[in-house]
Amino acid sequence: MKETILVTGGTGFIGSHTSVALLDAGYEVIVVDNLSNSDAGVIQRIEQICSRGPRFIEGDVRDSDLLTSIFSEFAVVAVVHFAGLKAVGESVQKPLEYYQNNVGGSLKLFKVMQTAGVKTIVFSSSATVYGDPAQLPITESFPLSATNPYGATKLVIENILADLYRADEEWRIARLRYFNPVGAHESALIGENPKGVPDNLMPYISQTAAGIRKELSVFGDDYKTPDGTGIRDYIHVVDLASGHVAALDYLQRNDQMLTVNLGTGNGVSVLEMINTFESTNSCKVPYRIAKRRAGDIARCWADTSLANRLLEWEATRTLEDMCRDTWRWQNS
Ligand code: NAD
Ligand code: WQD
Repeated sequence: MKETILVTGGTGFIGSHTSVALLDAGYEVIVVDNLSNSDAGVIQRIEQICSRGPRFIEGDVRDSDLLTSIFSEFAVVAVVHFAGLKAVGESVQKPLEYYQNNVGGSLKLFKVMQTAGVKTIVFSSSATVYGDPAQLPITESFPLSATNPYGATKLVIENILADLYRADEEWRIARLRYFNPVGAHESALIGENPKGVPDNLMPYISQTAAGIRKELSVFGDDYKTPDGTGIRDYIHVVDLASGHVAALDYLQRNDQMLTVNLGTGNGVSVLEMINTFESTNSCKVPYRIAKRRAGDIARCWADTSLANRLLEWEATRTLEDMCRDTWRWQNS
């Protein structure tokens, strides 16, 4: 019998790619998602990619009765927890919604898991927990801070998980700190589908190249970086997805709490990203230099050695792969 994994937020960007990776690795997958930022059609598209699909349950992780019924009906061995809100700017406008959904939803989920005796969880954290790092590359032991409510929810949930582990070492917990996930599945059947005007660089670039947006604003060219624009560690979402399978494998072999960065270890500037997108896809990305975006940091990239060593995992896809797969998805 294949083991069953519950994926919360599994119709979303990272959750859908991770569901594919889990199915490919031989797991059974149950997706629970309230569709607040995704659509149910993703399930059929996952099925097309994998020749078998996840079981889909539309619902909210804050609904304890629903979660309890899932754990009693299915032999779930572990949870991969993506469900949550993720827009930094929106979190500043609507902090209560962010705490309610991200922290409240996680608390409900962890409690139901505890009651059901399912104590293995992989949690989506973020490089945002490092705030503005004093040094680079960023290792997992760097000081943590939050500069907005979204980041604060990630820190709170990380702390809740640490407390849970301290209280009961039967828990097996992976706190995965993602850097900047981009790209799409190479089939172009699933990808990132931001509602409204994108906040993030890669979807803004691809929508501009497609003519949906007139031009990209490059937020600042006066940072202390070689070309003056912000530097980030962009990771292909398919590599990120395989990091989750590696984390689950690790937790099945080791009973402990694991905290790792998932990135490539390479820093890429905004102008480098635009140039690579244009050259890889033979297209134009009209842009202008605008003022800095409030809250942005100059440079951020991961030290990935812990993930490489413990999980025997590393990102293999190049910046060109990220640009090509994003463009293919944009055009599909
Ligand atoms: P996403 O919005 O595409 O996916 C999240 C999914 O969760 C959506 O399908 C949404 O409908 C669902 N959801 C939200 N609240 C829910 C609830 N209460 N109950 C059930 N479903 C709910 O976002 P994503 O980019 O795939 O991010 C997934 C996770 O990874 C999030 O927790 C996010 O904070 C984290 N993360 C994302 C990034 C990034 O840049 N995309 C970086 C670091 C961490
Ligand atoms: C990348 C670079 C911008 C848009 C955010 C969240 C973080 C994490 C990942 C969830 C920066 C520049 C962007 C644009 C631009 N999410 N940019 N013009 O800010 O590194 O991280 O997503 O956990 O928490 O904060 O990603 O893609 O928004 O920006 O010039 O229209 O692109 O200034 O240098 P960021 P991003």
